[in-house]
Amino acid sequence: MQDRTPRPEELDPIERASVDELRAVQRERLRWSLRHAYDNVPHYRRAFDAAGVHPDDCRDLDDLARFPFTGKAELRENYPFGMFAVPRERVARLHASSGTTGRPTVVGYTAGDLRTWARLMARSIRAAGGRPGDRVHVAYGYGLFTGGLGAHYGAEELGCTVIPVSGGMTERQVMLIRDFEPEVIMVTPSYMLAILDEMERQGVDPRATSLRVGIFGAEPWTEDMRREMERRLDMHAVDIYGLSEVMGPGVANECVETKDGLHLWEDHFYPEVIDPVTGEVLPDGERGELVLTSLTKEAMPVVRYRTRDLTRLLPGTARPMRRIEKITGRTDDMMIIRGVNVFPTQIEELILRTPQLSPHFQCVLGRQGRMDTLTVRVERRAGVDAEAADRAGTALVGLVKNTIGVSVAVEVIAPDGVERSMGKMRRIVDRRRES
Ligand code: DLL
Repeated sequence: MQDRTPRPEELDPIERASVDELRAVQRERLRWSLRHAYDNVPHYRRAFDAAGVHPDDCRDLDDLARFPFTGKAELRENYPFGMFAVPRERVARLHASSGTTGRPTVVGYTAGDLRTWARLMARSIRAAGGRPGDRVHVAYGYGLFTGGLGAHYGAEELGCTVIPVSGGMTERQVMLIRDFEPEVIMVTPSYMLAILDEMERQGVDPRATSLRVGIFGAEPWTEDMRREMERRLDMHAVDIYGLSEVMGPGVANECVETKDGLHLWEDHFYPEVIDPVTGEVLPDGERGELVLTSLTKEAMPVVRYRTRDLTRLLPGTARPMRRIEKITGRTDDMMIIRGVNVFPTQIEELILRTPQLSPHFQCVLGRQGRMDTLTVRVERRAGVDAEAADRAGTALVGLVKNTIGVSVAVEVIAPDGVERSMGKMRRIVDRRRES
């Protein structure tokens, strides 16, 4: 794989600052952000007053723990524009996160917020190994989803040639990759797999394409998936994280030279990790739910937003900013099978260690009496015969039992049997109400 490490002089000054300098910036920005939220968003004023705290109580970063959390529920209650801290006329763009039920969550950006977002996305793409002058194929969806436009403006900001393909029409994705020869692709990992399969179907050797860097996010994926993609594509597979409520993609990104977790851009977002049950702040290094506070957002500041994403905070390596460990799942993705907590990512790891099985799978939840059951529906790899794949499926049952400690059923199906997603993959199919 090509060396894609950015040179130190290419980085933003804050990416090279000391931890002390960074903390000083955060302290000042945090106080501004809390004051901005309190003064301009009725919800925050009420919530702070009810908790008996005032922005002036925040003298140091630790004081943030005294402030109330914000969750999706609060954003929904204030649908559509109630969380904005600026007059609607100053909002330059809206996005929304789909959400599986009811109203979407609406988010807004001032022109200044859009500039910050583009810069942070440019920083993210550069960290991932993208360079000015690269051609960037954007296959994240364009629209209310933040993936497409977020990637788009970031790549432009970095000085790349942007190819705004959006999701879907997989055959055409392959054609455009062959004809336009992008060095960088930005796409969900599950859709990258679909594109890869399509290349192979068309007889295109993925390792021989122009692609050098893949920037994958919007859904959880594992180290085993990284190995699979790097092997099949001969390119760097790098993780990008973000969420609409906090900005969109580009809240944290892995550095191509280390690929050891995602550096969180702490000059704009202050992270905490909490115990998801008690809400208590955990020390760095302990696993829990990521909570984010925006430090510079104008249109829609968020204070202690509960992401539901599970990870832990680790010290900086390639950059002074702290890292988040690759996200293993969301609190709401956790399946409880006979008392054992299971995440789809754990199943993914084991599938990818089974060469006869493909990475296309779904977790189907059912019910037997009072117990939840889990059936893993997984495709056999193209070219593997059905009997060998069935044997591998039986072996997978044992592997899951021995490593996760839970009994599941495995159903091995023909290639293309699992519905392909063009964006975020639906890993869990809940049939508990039907059985
Ligand atoms: O998915 C923003 C995004 C677009 C991120 C493109 C990266 C690339 P939402 O639709 O609001 O925004 O969904 C946010 O997706 O809370 C996580 O649960 C999940 N997620 C995002 N990135 C990752 C990742 C975008 N790298 C929700 N690993 C988040 C695991 C991720 N989960």
